[in-house]
Amino acid sequence: MKQILKQRRLSLAELCQTPVILWSGGAISRNFPANRYPFRASSHFLYFAGIPLENAAIKLDQGKLELFIDDPDPSLTLWHGETPLRAEIADKIGADAAYPLSELAHHTKDAATIPVQDPNTYKQQCQHLNRFLTFEGIELDLAQAIITLRLAHDAAALEELKKSASVAVLAHLAGMKASRNAKTEAEIRAAMESVIIAHDMTCAYNSIVTVHGEILHNEQYDHFLESGDLLLADVGAETYLGWASDITRTWPISGQFSPTQRDIYDVVLAAHDACIAKMCPGVEYREIHLLAARVMAEGLVSLGILQGDPDSLVEMDAHALFFPHGIGHLLGLDVHDMEDLGDLAGYENGRIRSNRFGLGYLRLDRPLRSQMLVTIEPGFYQVSAILGNPDIRTKYRSVVNWDKLSQFEDVRGIRIEDDVLITDNGIEVLTAALPTQADHIEEIIRD
Ligand code: GLY
Ligand code: MN
Ligand code: MN
Repeated sequence: MKQILKQRRLSLAELCQTPVILWSGGAISRNFPANRYPFRASSHFLYFAGIPLENAAIKLDQGKLELFIDDPDPSLTLWHGETPLRAEIADKIGADAAYPLSELAHHTKDAATIPVQDPNTYKQQCQHLNRFLTFEGIELDLAQAIITLRLAHDAAALEELKKSASVAVLAHLAGMKASRNAKTEAEIRAAMESVIIAHDMTCAYNSIVTVHGEILHNEQYDHFLESGDLLLADVGAETYLGWASDITRTWPISGQFSPTQRDIYDVVLAAHDACIAKMCPGVEYREIHLLAARVMAEGLVSLGILQGDPDSLVEMDAHALFFPHGIGHLLGLDVHDMEDLGDLAGYENGRIRSNRFGLGYLRLDRPLRSQMLVTIEPGFYQVSAILGNPDIRTKYRSVVNWDKLSQFEDVRGIRIEDDVLITDNGIEVLTAALPTQADHIEEIIRD
């Protein structure tokens, strides 16, 4: 670990001459101090400190690492047992020096930082640096330097990301196998998350496990399962060191897709497969999104749901009636990696988000590069806020066959999501061990 952390610091020093201070953040209490929400260290801190320390800061300057953390309060041993001392932590992460937190005030001159999410620590950051934090000047330069590093995963990161992906695959297999005997979404969620917990990992984000996949961020698990339902499960793991995976599968609770479900499933899968087949270094991610849109449009035309020429349908954003989000995003220490930096990480310098209906939710608009990890997650959803909107219905009345669409009412939401690493010559799908083919998924459920 020491070696990789040193390499990351040296790489940062090449890109950023300013001293850098990164805070880890602290836990937030639910009511009394010892009853806390789970602590998650800031990802930028994790990248350079390597371990999830709490209430700590690191200073990075020309490749040197200084750690600022208080020794544990001896009176807390009663509650927490023995916890490592500052000197032990400093040795573990290869720090050149280590100080109590009170010393930090003497080391902040000319330093840049990245704001953390928890408000108490953010306040400390502003006080120490004597300014409000915005992405301008040295903070913008630092953010750009960190983005350059974190866009390309090093060997240690990839090892963690692969562990995370393999546990998420096992969680999805457990969810599929639990389906036929489960009565509620909550029972399937429990089967999936228990695999993640049993591997001493956590969920990388709030799981979506629902028969209402058309509600894109559905975080309720109380629906009873009906035999004709499709279940959409978007569940990912996070390793102890913070690295994430992000997988979605959609499967029939009964173990058999209805003909209409199968038709749409195969359209989404065709989009998924076409995107993955096209990915390699140099390809624009936006083109991958547009390819998914086109394959979706073609498939929906062949099913009679859309009518017209697929390219023209994509130009008028008709695909977005059913596929309203982007094809995916960066993945790394965060499930939407570095989105705390707004679009700075997702969008190549000089590019901004489109306000087109079919492109506005595209979270990544960069050429693919070796060692980048992204998701590919096309979907089909019947969202009433879109399909029931009178203005939208008027605008698209001539390209949607509403009668035909009504035959597909047992398809509320389908998404298929995999994690794709760009390599020097092509790609590696880190989540490939989890089948996507409908027949194969049916077999696993019925097994
Ligand atoms: N799990 C969040 C996403 O797929 O973007
Ligand atoms: Mn995703
Ligand atoms: Mn997901």
